[in-house]
Amino acid sequence: MIQEISSKYFSLFEKTPEVKVQAPGRINIIGEHTDYNLGFVLPAAINKYTFFAIGKNGAKTATIYSADYDESRKLDINIPKVKSSGWMKYMESMMIGLQEEGYKIGGFNLVFGGNIPIGAGLSSSAALTCGLYYALSELFDLGISKEKIAKMAQASEHRVGLNCGLMDQYAVTFSKKDHCLFLDCRNLKYKFFPAVLDGYTIVLLDTCITHELTDSGYNDRRNDVESVVELVKKKYPEVQSARDLTKEILGTLSDQIDPIKLKRAHFVINENTRVINTCEALSENDLVSMGKNMNQSHHGLSKMYEVSCKELDFLADFAHKDKNVLGARMMGGGFGGCTINIVKKGYEEEFISKASQAYKTAFNIVLKSYQVDLGKGLGRV
Ligand code: GLA
Repeated sequence: MIQEISSKYFSLFEKTPEVKVQAPGRINIIGEHTDYNLGFVLPAAINKYTFFAIGKNGAKTATIYSADYDESRKLDINIPKVKSSGWMKYMESMMIGLQEEGYKIGGFNLVFGGNIPIGAGLSSSAALTCGLYYALSELFDLGISKEKIAKMAQASEHRVGLNCGLMDQYAVTFSKKDHCLFLDCRNLKYKFFPAVLDGYTIVLLDTCITHELTDSGYNDRRNDVESVVELVKKKYPEVQSARDLTKEILGTLSDQIDPIKLKRAHFVINENTRVINTCEALSENDLVSMGKNMNQSHHGLSKMYEVSCKELDFLADFAHKDKNVLGARMMGGGFGGCTINIVKKGYEEEFISKASQAYKTAFNIVLKSYQVDLGKGLGRV
């Protein structure tokens, strides 16, 4: 695929690209909506990528071609504010990020594209922002550290209206092949857990309900939980984020907290515990416990945090009834996108076919599916 992107670059700009970069999409085993609450997550990069072919052009603008959309655009690298929509809004937001951080770049030519499904909860936007920051850093010798790239990529999302955490950017940037990345989102320390899924494999079922998380309840959920923390802090100043909440603390204040927000906060406590339990299970090769935690995670996301949708619930319930599937849950921000399923090896095709039929009957939508391996984080090709 990088070959196609490079050839396109050559045909458009009559030069070979100076730098080629690949940035992966990600899955998340468990730990949903915990990252911006400064808790724990367990994502991993997958073998689906966005590729970048880039070179300097000596001008003050960038010429960018999106292979996925077959669209060419000019970008003012000194643009003062985001004014476009679609993929261009990320480009503009990133230019502003570079200006704010004092990094100087010149004009550039870029071709980018790949095979991460867009709007499916596989972090195509984090792959775009982390990958391009990395490519620009390499091209213009900016020497931006990977930690900083992840944070600048997160800021680019904030600037376009999604107050996300850092899970996606860390997974895209730091993942290691065949491992999950356990990230403590408070101190940003991470460690790797070998993802040895003995006899099992990961299958993603895509509802094909694509979401723009900026138009969803994502930011509302974040605000809900943060407002609980603000209230709790008055009595328990040691509580700095939802990460510090306990059931006991919430119990003492339950009559003062809006019941819906209380439910959201309880979800965060439970989900953080489930991440820790899943890490233990993974290190003991106890895939059955891992699966149970994933199933409970779905239940919490659907009923307590309320970020699922009927299509995701349908697919998760369908998988929960199948004894060849150890665990299944919605993945990512929610409101559409994929479920992640831990499926017995050799049973994948049958599972996908049964799920597709059932999904078609229920919603008249053709299900998409992806069988993924765990890949490595971003880098030069
Ligand atoms: C999106 C956000 C992440 C994270 C997940 C939910 O992917 O970008 O920061 O909050 O949703 O876990």
